[in-house]
Amino acid sequence: MAEWWRSAVVYQIYVRSFADSDGDGVGDLQGIRSRLPYLRELGVDGIWLTPFYPSPGADHGYDVSDYVDVDPQFGTLADFDALLAATHELGLRLIVDIVPNHTSNEHVWFRNAVSAPDHPDRARYMFRAGRDDGPPNGWKSAFGGPAWTRDEGSDEWYLHLFTPEQPDLDWHNETVRADFEEILRFWLDRGVDGFRIDVGQALYKARDLHDVQQPEPRPSYADWHTGINQPEVHELYRSWRRLGDGYPGERMFVGEIVLGDQALLARYVRPDELQLAFNFTFLFEGWSAAGLRETIERTLEEFGAVGATATWVLENHDVTRVATRYGGGETGRRRARAAALLLLALPGTAFVYEGQELGLEEVDLPDELRQDPIFFRTQGERQGRDGCRVPIPWENGPPGFGFTSGTPWLPIPDEWEGITATAQEADAGSALELYRAALGARPRDESFAWLESPAETLAFARGDLTCLVNLSAHEVELPAGELVLASDPGAGDVLPPDTAAWVRTKGER
Ligand code: NOJ
Repeated sequence: MAEWWRSAVVYQIYVRSFADSDGDGVGDLQGIRSRLPYLRELGVDGIWLTPFYPSPGADHGYDVSDYVDVDPQFGTLADFDALLAATHELGLRLIVDIVPNHTSNEHVWFRNAVSAPDHPDRARYMFRAGRDDGPPNGWKSAFGGPAWTRDEGSDEWYLHLFTPEQPDLDWHNETVRADFEEILRFWLDRGVDGFRIDVGQALYKARDLHDVQQPEPRPSYADWHTGINQPEVHELYRSWRRLGDGYPGERMFVGEIVLGDQALLARYVRPDELQLAFNFTFLFEGWSAAGLRETIERTLEEFGAVGATATWVLENHDVTRVATRYGGGETGRRRARAAALLLLALPGTAFVYEGQELGLEEVDLPDELRQDPIFFRTQGERQGRDGCRVPIPWENGPPGFGFTSGTPWLPIPDEWEGITATAQEADAGSALELYRAALGARPRDESFAWLESPAETLAFARGDLTCLVNLSAHEVELPAGELVLASDPGAGDVLPPDTAAWVRTKGER
């Protein structure tokens, strides 16, 4: 049997926003445990937990101050162990997020580093002398502003590709490498099924730290940044792969590799490197038949060339919800449903972000409630990611919606009362039921072949299952066969615009 991760659907849990067990308005590990039966019934194969480690929260957990513990607001290590055991009992896998590019500025290593210019821990980070009374080079932070902050104690500067509270580690330092091996072992020994690697392409910086002109507006992909994506990172991932393979039970690594060139991306998933890499080209494509076709084709070609499994993502905690990206309102919602059938028909591994299965849309929050550092560091020019991080509406209504018995850390819109998970469970035409049905009927083999289809549509075969997506403004005819699923209950002999369907053709094609 092929490894589990080759055809899995992994459900991403943004821990703060999934389920709160203690009424403080923030999700936690016990909350997740209480909702595992929902995930089992949804039909996913595993879950990915965003960081739950001790953190001051400058980037909501992506600023880790201790890699081998649980932040008290999310629970304890015992809660983690109980969650892992319960997940495994239900036959699901669990992967955790590892954040190796940077630590929190509250991590003891960084506190030591700034405590004295000659402290040995300083070598774990990227401290450099300035240039002309300014930073060492012109690199900008991905969250706005310069990527360097002056260390008051020494007059040197330290690098941070994200916020100043997230100082970058120096991966050319062997101690850093050894530390992370220990950290990986800690979680592997506890029994996790794998890791999602944060900013996986950026760990090693070019040794000369050369200047790089950042294109404006800031691109979604990091291909332009010649100071990162260094060859050394591949050797590191080979060593991590060996480490994971030394454990029983098919442990895996999925890299957050934010590159648009799929040939470069595929280098990360060569046979002895990471098993999977997120393929954001699918996510950043608009609602366009030509664009989606091209990204699917390129992905299958480049990943196929190295024998790797393709991955498909439409949403995560960093991007605007798909219904909103595809036009919003009724049109956006229809397209998001159609896209769900496309996503789950493609060969490989798919990732589904919490709430995507409920068809949630981006929430337009008032500025005074925004928390994302991107909003503050760009003086509101970029709104940030809070709108896709609003907690899950499980049942009933405001303010808690079954997410919390207290006040949710971001308000849940009143109108979500009609689309809670419980409300959707009873509704055959709901997004939730569509996801459940698609997860149940999804083809698992690797076969894939494009089929001829009218302009502005996509059609492909997975064995005897045909997936047809209508991105045109006209109805198109459905192929003959048994209609297995349609994203619009109105689909019959024809497929309306912004709709997708799965048809079993049983040799009739
Ligand atoms: C990518 C994560 O997904 C995002 O949420 C985070 O802000 C950055 N990496 C920095 O860790």
